[in-house]
Amino acid sequence: MLQEKLKPISRMLIESANEAEEIAAARALSAFFTENSPYAVNQQEDSTEITLRGGVALSTYHAAICIHESLRTARLIKGVYHAIREILLRFPDQEIRVLYAGCGPYATLLFPVLPLFDNSSLKCSLLEINPLSVKHARAWSETLGLNKDKITFLEEDAIQYKSPETFHLLISETMFNALLREPQLRIAANLAPQLHPNGIMVPEEIRLDLAYCALGDEPYFDNQKDSSDGKPGTAEYSGPLFSLTKDFNFSEQVRSGSFRFNSTHFVFPEKLSKTKPDICIFTTLKTFGGHEIGLGESSLTNPYCVGNYYTLEGKPFRLVHRFEHIPDWKLEILS
Ligand SMILES: C[S@@+](CC[C@H](N)C(=O)[O-])C[C@H]1O[C@@H](n2cnc3c(N)ncnc32)[C@H](O)[C@@H]1O
Repeated sequence: MLQEKLKPISRMLIESANEAEEIAAARALSAFFTENSPYAVNQQEDSTEITLRGGVALSTYHAAICIHESLRTARLIKGVYHAIREILLRFPDQEIRVLYAGCGPYATLLFPVLPLFDNSSLKCSLLEINPLSVKHARAWSETLGLNKDKITFLEEDAIQYKSPETFHLLISETMFNALLREPQLRIAANLAPQLHPNGIMVPEEIRLDLAYCALGDEPYFDNQKDSSDGKPGTAEYSGPLFSLTKDFNFSEQVRSGSFRFNSTHFVFPEKLSKTKPDICIFTTLKTFGGHEIGLGESSLTNPYCVGNYYTLEGKPFRLVHRFEHIPDWKLEILS
């Protein structure tokens, strides 16, 4: 069976011990997926995005090619693998329910690890809003010979979905850098409260910080090349904006119809005005089990510039994240 061929690649990825090994394993995985999945990547035909109240759901083509960002893929899959192990320890002898929101056509973050937990008590629901991606993920599951009775595909909006049962593990990577554009925050706001209180969300933390820098000096990941420019970065971190976790998930706010995060007030440090004039949001992810995706290691964690010293005219400011429709950031100058 094809999944027997996948197993050694998945093991190589889980056991990868440094960046070079992670990249080699993730590339072997993406080659295996592109060669064997029934989804024949087609940019021309499959580029239709779906705009939801809360963010944009990527096209089948764009969701598929996420797999080619090697460090992103490796560290999220490692996180999922370790989260499943942890859940099996926390809930022994029970049926374990996994909810994967936004699986795309490859179910990249789950299918590689399922063969490593053969015969386990895992029951997986895969949610995806894009019908073409659902069709291909279902076909891929059959091609791999994964256990049909343990996997359900649901063509649903994860921002609205109400699960009939609580689940133990929530997996979702539906984000751009700084939580722009895609609906990660709104999906967490809806689904995290439906997790079992002792359950796990992967990524377990998405942290956004305010930093002052010269943008061109910061590390930047190029997804065409699958590599970072390797700049060491010289930013001065000003402090956290917020961290999205299973417990800090904006659900109460969304329920009350408020769709914005207002940062505290900041005053630009005059001494940085010449060398680090850019006001940026830095994103970092903890996937799970000590695995992290750092600044400039993926397109999800590239620095995002919201303004600069010269627009402030010496006034304090705050950053506002709006997430009622397509999420964005605004710099508000205060008087
Ligand atoms: C960035 S892609 C990630 C694909 C895959 N999980 C991976 O990590 O490689 C995000 C996927 O989530 C889906 N998605 C986004 N918003 C969604 C929503 N509200 N409900 C269900 N699926 C959604 C998109 O259609 C897309 O397939």
